[in-house]
Amino acid sequence: MTEPLTLAEHLCRRIGAEGPLSVAEFMADALAHPTLGYYSTRDPLGADGDFVTAPEVSQMFGELVGLWSALVWQTMGSPASVRLIELGPGRGTLMADALAAARVVPGFVAAARVHFVEIGPALRARQKETMAARAPQVAVEWHDFIGDVPEGPVIVLANEFFDAMPVRQFKRSPDGWHERLVDATADGRLVFALSGVRQPLVPPTWDDTLGDVPEDGVIEVSPAACAMAGLVAERIAERGGAALIVDYGPEQSAPGDTLQAVRAHGFDDPLAAPGEADLTAHVDFAALAHVGARAGVRVLGPVSQGAFLGRLGIGARAEILMRTAPPEVARDVKLALHRLCAPEAMGTLFKVLGYIHPALPAPPGFAD
Ligand SMILES: C[S@@+](CC[C@H](N)C(=O)[O-])C[C@H]1O[C@@H](n2cnc3c(N)ncnc32)[C@H](O)[C@@H]1O
Repeated sequence: MTEPLTLAEHLCRRIGAEGPLSVAEFMADALAHPTLGYYSTRDPLGADGDFVTAPEVSQMFGELVGLWSALVWQTMGSPASVRLIELGPGRGTLMADALAAARVVPGFVAAARVHFVEIGPALRARQKETMAARAPQVAVEWHDFIGDVPEGPVIVLANEFFDAMPVRQFKRSPDGWHERLVDATADGRLVFALSGVRQPLVPPTWDDTLGDVPEDGVIEVSPAACAMAGLVAERIAERGGAALIVDYGPEQSAPGDTLQAVRAHGFDDPLAAPGEADLTAHVDFAALAHVGARAGVRVLGPVSQGAFLGRLGIGARAEILMRTAPPEVARDVKLALHRLCAPEAMGTLFKVLGYIHPALPAPPGFAD
């Protein structure tokens, strides 16, 4: 058999051989197929890419996350070595800004062992360039999987990582819940279908509210996100440290089909061009909080990104940058502040969830 040319062709062949895929299987292939997946084939960030993330909006985001990390490290007793892990580091911008700002905390940068968990070769190359240019004295190790990061206390950072974790979708029908699937037509188009098998559902954070979902309503669960968050939380509970998870989604588990495709800064049909568009789903923060509590960490928040950055002093940081910058740069700083914090921009939809070892004091950002 010849190599498939496109991910759509690969998916059609796979469906022909195995039958329809779950939405999670489809999403996993679309994003992370080793040679054809979206993140395996490109750097999608930036104005000329598909989307822009908070660290790419402004240095202020990474700087405040860096100071947060350094303060947590101090409360851990300033250990000589801490694994500073970033999940899905994109272009490496957040880490570079974080380390630059955290230099004001003596000893932190020397103690930080930076570990990037990244599947994309193009983004890995970009991260290497960023770190070589901006933090040449810091050694970085790359891993495909967080479980491969060596032992030790950790500070884990994840911005817009969990929204890339595959979700399974279930639809309510008159006779119960059925899984939503991705099938292929005879002429090679991908289409949604519904499993004929009735599925008993018991997601722990839905409790009684599952019964309120109307007919044809869809709920999403992400075993991959929960497994990943579980590994982070177990590591913190066993070895000490904290995690900061920033993403978009509701505070409480809520119904809705949130699978979306983004391409060239606009929405696309999720099945139209697999491997060519970013696919995401809302993060279920209640599920991640549940996983953390079960693993034995103290769960902080979620709080809105606007409130979190406000408490960490983004207003004061913006003032300083604006005071010393030429007018056009000052205007950009003001726009970035609005984009990151305003409720009508990223301020409310994006949320921050923390995990911290129960013996440590609450870090800043989560309450006044
Ligand atoms: C939306 S980008 C966010 C990038 C960066 N955190 C930022 O804020 O700019 C998602 C990142 O997660 C990575 N990624 C996606 N799925 C992954 C997986 N299963 N394991 C490791 N990295 C993954 C992508 O390659 C990319 O670096």
